[in-house]
Amino acid sequence: MSQIFEPNRDFSREARIKNMCEFKELSLQAEENFEGYWDKMAKEKIDWFEPYDTVLDESNRPFYKWFIGGKLNVTHQCLGRHLDRRKNKAAIIWEGEDGKKRIITYLQLYYRVNRLANLMKNKFDIKKGDRVILYMPMIPEAAFAMLACAKIGAIHSIVFGGFSADALRDRIIDASAKLIITADGAFRRGKPYMLKPAVDEALKEGCECCKKVLIVQRNFEDIDYTPGRDYVYNEIIMNESQHCDPEPMDSEDPLFLLYTSGSTGKPKGVMHSSAGYILWAQYTMEHVFDVKENDTFWCTADVGWITGHTYIIYGPLAMGATTIMYEGTPTFPDTGRWWKMIEEHRVNQFYTAPTAIRLLHKLGKNEPKKYDLSSLKVLGTVGEPINPDAWMWYYNEIGRKNCSIVDTWWQTETGGHMISPLPGATPIKPGSATFPLPGIMAEIIDENGNQTPKGEKGFLCITKPWPSMIRNIWGDSDRYVKSYFGDCKKDGKSVYFSGDGAMYDDDGYIVITGRTDDVINVSGHRLGTAEIESVLAHHFNVAEVAVVGCPDPIKGEGVFAYIVIKGEDSIGEEIEMIQELNALIKKEIGNIAKLDVVLFVPGLPKTRSGKIMRRILRSIAKGEEITQDTSTLEDPLIVDKIQNLVNC
Ligand code: WT7
Repeated sequence: MSQIFEPNRDFSREARIKNMCEFKELSLQAEENFEGYWDKMAKEKIDWFEPYDTVLDESNRPFYKWFIGGKLNVTHQCLGRHLDRRKNKAAIIWEGEDGKKRIITYLQLYYRVNRLANLMKNKFDIKKGDRVILYMPMIPEAAFAMLACAKIGAIHSIVFGGFSADALRDRIIDASAKLIITADGAFRRGKPYMLKPAVDEALKEGCECCKKVLIVQRNFEDIDYTPGRDYVYNEIIMNESQHCDPEPMDSEDPLFLLYTSGSTGKPKGVMHSSAGYILWAQYTMEHVFDVKENDTFWCTADVGWITGHTYIIYGPLAMGATTIMYEGTPTFPDTGRWWKMIEEHRVNQFYTAPTAIRLLHKLGKNEPKKYDLSSLKVLGTVGEPINPDAWMWYYNEIGRKNCSIVDTWWQTETGGHMISPLPGATPIKPGSATFPLPGIMAEIIDENGNQTPKGEKGFLCITKPWPSMIRNIWGDSDRYVKSYFGDCKKDGKSVYFSGDGAMYDDDGYIVITGRTDDVINVSGHRLGTAEIESVLAHHFNVAEVAVVGCPDPIKGEGVFAYIVIKGEDSIGEEIEMIQELNALIKKEIGNIAKLDVVLFVPGLPKTRSGKIMRRILRSIAKGEEITQDTSTLEDPLIVDKIQNLVNC
């Protein structure tokens, strides 16, 4: 059994939730009076323009609605309401990879957002409900753009800058976005890189919906401009007024879309609401990070992922805290970069991914010792299971045994943390996300809807709605119902299934065991194997393909492709073919989905009805023994043949 670490006593004394009794008491309150609990939270935490009349409407399951009748604007929650007391406080501290710094106070941020909101309204005719794509690097203008959309009720959809032009185009078309906000480029690993050319490429085909592009100049490299379509932010923003009234939004009006991969088909546009989402951002900042008035919070994610949305922008700003935004990589100019930044900015809560911890552990084990990290109070991890080795290094070397580690389990669809320790209360264990937050009815169940006994794997489900849950998939309600409410039932009723497997350990702690579907997690990024397969199938010489995950010591999982080639012609040309396959991936998805292992095989294990036995392929890629019955395969010998190839 793994070791248990109690929270730091001095920290607990000051924390909002100070011990397990208080934690249990809150959870009990939520269980006994579910709607009453959320009613209290929503009244206490949100600055409403108009009060709601109904806490939760469950009449049209699973299309749940929260805080109906209420009006608010998320930017009032994140900016407007702070101006009285915090106008000259740093809202964002930004550091460029080149060391350049910008500090933006709450008042400055408020004005910046207003100017951009006015620009979108006046120049680009953006109205409430219109979709705006942001294809941005990690610069403060990304925050301005998100908040400016929220101010006028436009729905932002951020596309991570590592996605290719083709991936960007799919999202522009799916969302029928009217405007793209981008930058010429930014800096990474000490070099400038470009973003705008991908926008030009994306807009070449099928994007009639999108008439305008707004470009922030960051690296001042030469780029093409299309007159009448492209506008330079830096040149026109100051013509706009710094005053702009917030659009009163209904609680359920969408705040943003964010595309994420599923086990089938194209990425899905996860829709989040206004009130439930912002309540969650704030609720979890308070409970999981226990952020206080003068704290400086740093989440190292990219704004292109949900973690960046909730814990770089909306959460910290809703709290009136100071948020750090860093443009570059953790290893530039050396592996001490992050620790140096923690020292310099006196960071109090630090939130990152296991893959980064593993990388910095491997490359710069003793680097943290050189820095004063005593400002740290809470350390967070997210995105994938964290191995005990990395956890211990994080705990000992970064937290210096004084900080709780909050291993936060959640998803794009949940909007914010769902299962996590509370740093002042929960005794923590390496490798466990511990317990559901108060008000979250998470349960591990089997096929029959019964809770699994300790030590047995089951399906991680959420059996009651929660305020920040996904509301729908953009343009595809059927897919929403099928993807999340199709697989698991409890007491005969469909419940939300996360796609993850999990189990209770001997002490009843939750251990996440990973995805149970055809989704893989590469460096904390979610990739659908079906998407990768459909790209590879475009290669003229690919007859059949199957993609699964394989263990990777830094990335968590790598991409493992089994390829059956057409005819015999390409034998001996495998290296060229791997390069071509990766070029296709780069073009159609982006380098994040690059193939780590390619195995050319004579065939795939299939049942007599032609279904690929993916479980066998997963086991082979993991180097596990095959325990499945292979006698029902169309060609039972194929498994041995593939295994022999792996062994040589
Ligand atoms: C998937 C969600 C949540 C923001 C980042 C990723 C995995 C997430 C943990 C954790 C084990 C985790 C799950 C989940 N995951 N956090 N603490 N321990 N696994 O968001 O792209 O929506 O991916 O990431 O498999 O389903 P996402």
